[in-house]
Amino acid sequence: MSKGTSPKAILRKNYTPYPWLLKGAKLRFEIDDETTRVLSALSFEANPAAQASKTLKLDGQSMELLSVSLDGRRLQPADYEQDRDHLVVPVGQEPFLLETEVLIRPRENTALEGLYMSGDFLLTQCEAEGFRKITYFPDRPDVMTVFDVILEADLDRFPVLLSNGNVVETGEANGGRHWARWVDPFAKPSYLFALVAGDLACVEDRFMTRSGRDVSLRFYVEHENADRCDHAMESLINAMKWDESRFGLEYDLDIYNVVATNDFNMGAMENKSLNIFNSRYVLASPESATDSDYQGIESVIGHEYFHNWTGNRVTCRDWFQLTLKEGLTVFRDQEFTSDLQSRAVKRIQDVRNLRSSQFPEDAGPMAHPIRPDRYKEISNFYTMTVYRKGAEIIRMYHTLLGEEGFQRGMRLYFERHDGQAVTCDDFLAAMADANDVDFERFGRWYGQSGTPVVSARGEFDEGSGTYTLTLAQHTAPTLDQAEKQPLLIPVRAALISKTGNVIPARVGDLEADASGSVLLILDADEKRFVFRDVPEQPVPSLLRDFSAPVRLEFDASPADLAVLMAHDNNAFVRWESAQSLASRAILANVERRAAARPMHIGDGLVAAFRALLADGQTDPALVAEAIMLPDEEYLGGQVDEVDVDGIHAARCFVRAELAGRLEDDFLARYHAMSSQGPYDKSAASMARRSLRNACLPYLMETTAGEALAETQLDRSDNMTDALAALRALVHHRAGSSQRALDAFESRWRHDALVMDKWFAIQASIPGPDTLETVQHLLAHPGFSLKNPNKVRAVIGVFATLNPTGFHAAHGGGYRFLTDRVIALDALNPQIAARMVSAFNSWTRYDADRSVLMRTELKRIAGYSTLSPDVSEIVGNALRMDKGRPENG
Ligand code: TRP
Ligand code: ZN
Repeated sequence: MSKGTSPKAILRKNYTPYPWLLKGAKLRFEIDDETTRVLSALSFEANPAAQASKTLKLDGQSMELLSVSLDGRRLQPADYEQDRDHLVVPVGQEPFLLETEVLIRPRENTALEGLYMSGDFLLTQCEAEGFRKITYFPDRPDVMTVFDVILEADLDRFPVLLSNGNVVETGEANGGRHWARWVDPFAKPSYLFALVAGDLACVEDRFMTRSGRDVSLRFYVEHENADRCDHAMESLINAMKWDESRFGLEYDLDIYNVVATNDFNMGAMENKSLNIFNSRYVLASPESATDSDYQGIESVIGHEYFHNWTGNRVTCRDWFQLTLKEGLTVFRDQEFTSDLQSRAVKRIQDVRNLRSSQFPEDAGPMAHPIRPDRYKEISNFYTMTVYRKGAEIIRMYHTLLGEEGFQRGMRLYFERHDGQAVTCDDFLAAMADANDVDFERFGRWYGQSGTPVVSARGEFDEGSGTYTLTLAQHTAPTLDQAEKQPLLIPVRAALISKTGNVIPARVGDLEADASGSVLLILDADEKRFVFRDVPEQPVPSLLRDFSAPVRLEFDASPADLAVLMAHDNNAFVRWESAQSLASRAILANVERRAAARPMHIGDGLVAAFRALLADGQTDPALVAEAIMLPDEEYLGGQVDEVDVDGIHAARCFVRAELAGRLEDDFLARYHAMSSQGPYDKSAASMARRSLRNACLPYLMETTAGEALAETQLDRSDNMTDALAALRALVHHRAGSSQRALDAFESRWRHDALVMDKWFAIQASIPGPDTLETVQHLLAHPGFSLKNPNKVRAVIGVFATLNPTGFHAAHGGGYRFLTDRVIALDALNPQIAARMVSAFNSWTRYDADRSVLMRTELKRIAGYSTLSPDVSEIVGNALRMDKGRPENG
């Protein structure tokens, strides 16, 4: 069998320190139109903490090596070894200086890793291992040094020259050229290096830190976007204030630069004092960005800013520790949003996201612990598990220790490790030591993959007035790990009376908190908890605030769910109960449909939705979350074998039935939530828009729908309302939808970010014929396979957010994805690997679809030129056995 390149796995247990300390890195970039010459001077000395070595081994790829010198003496090719990935130079034990000169071609770099071009400017992306495409270097996060960088380029073409730290000198050079010297006083690993050169507009503001440092905040964007940075700037200032007040952390340099690019593999990058952002997380105006774009900007700006302490000041020893910085920084950005916006809404959105994206990952061929034990290509491990489940693990520390204890742990972590490259064990030890607790069992979360299932059983004893809750845990084997151990799972619980009052929890010597709940610790296979002083049969409210990343199995009656939905004092459980009612109704109809029985919904669900729509007390944003039906991905995860068409049909049926029976209620709420003046981005206005737009898909099922959506599209003064209306029309296949799409396109064809939305709406139209639409979209002049945002908007949306399109029985969607992945892999392996991951769930479908998907996976695996990125994903997917993971 012909196989693609199958790189060797890298193992966590094989970590060894680098034999050399890097005492300083001086770099000089001579930038020209076609090529960039990189001169590097690296001073090394032996690392006393490592085993002595007789050679210096540097990483380097895809560069033309022009010269190598050791202590000023030019080496001949016979004096060193060079292969595709390394340069190895024999050296002595005394300190030495190694100088190299290489030539790189950023214009030809379509992988968007290393030095590349976006539009007319040059920029870098180094995390995780991109610096080795810029110059020969020990490209690993535990080698940290001070970078002293000179950039030289043509003054007209590249008036702006940026790198990390402070600009210490600038000057003019011959031939209309100029240069700037940047020195970053903080030692850092190569993955945090950045440079930018080009003709960019600068939008500037200032921030005074609490100790009086006056920081200049600068956004560099393409000239036409200079008027769309306000929200990002405001978010940055809010993030700086928040990190001071909540974590006591202050910014440490005089400049904070942010550059926005249209060509970026991920969301953004935290390079020290020179963040680089996907433009979708910087640029916003009410006409062109939705409320969720505004929220995304605030959270990603926060995320990258927060990395300055959790990631940059304290970094990772090796890439297995990635969650050390990512899980922690996601937790911090989630808390930032929770403190500034609505905590309850944020929690619900994060849980929804975890369930629809991380849970499937944890059950599929890419299952890995938040701290993996092995990888082939590290780019494939920037996953929902490392980021989102990682943040849940950090949140559990916080739940167990409380805010004070958690902050005590953070202070000890920085006290011990500022300026170091450390491990997840170091973080755990700081948390444990600062609070004098034993986190041994809790630490298992770092090493165990898979989503634990917690099952709960309750028994009320009237005579003794006790309620006994039995909690048991089980984690199914995953492809990467057959044996599972019991974890420490914090389960926040309360009891609610049938009339909706909280019965303050008394369990052993646990004290109920202000909301009447206790934190139960399930740290064995099974445990029993006895609630005392329970006067009547209660309704348990479990996993409040989603206190652990688990699947909860509890057989609540529909009546009990209705009590929780209406009365629980925990907003998360209220939402969860509404979702459970809806998802039970949908799944019951999937079964009826499969058995060729008529579908129907019960009066209980109708009454529950009527109550939700009539609820004028609750934050409209929460009501909106509650009436959004669970998505098809989540529903698919609830059953043994995904019935693509059945789930779609049943979900549509339930929506249409609810709409039919509650038309007046939806309509009333829709109108009550219409805007009361011109657009504003306050949380209250966003909440009203979100509820109104959550009603719209229901109203589309009624005769009033089309006209409402058309009017909304016409009259809207903001992208949130316009896009919701456009989506409603297009997904409903309304007669006016083509006209609406054309009008939208002609208004926005020059705005790449808005066009992404136009592409995504069309790629997500449910139904098997959308494949044809998607093929047309690829030929649209605004589409480019080289641009990750476009690839995500069309191919990504189709393959992951359009089940009836992608999984159409004809198999055309699968062949389409394979062909695109092959083409893409030659341009951008990281993005190709993301796209091919849509096949990861192939064993979850019926026999016909599984066979079709496996055939495509094999077709991909047969290509001899596959990148390590795609080859690792496809290789793992093929190790799954239909029905269960195949171990070994
Ligand atoms: N560290 C970045 C973040 O989480 C992630 C990132 C940005 C990244 N660009 C990348 C990871 C490219 C891998 C490759 O904020
Ligand atoms: Zn991050």
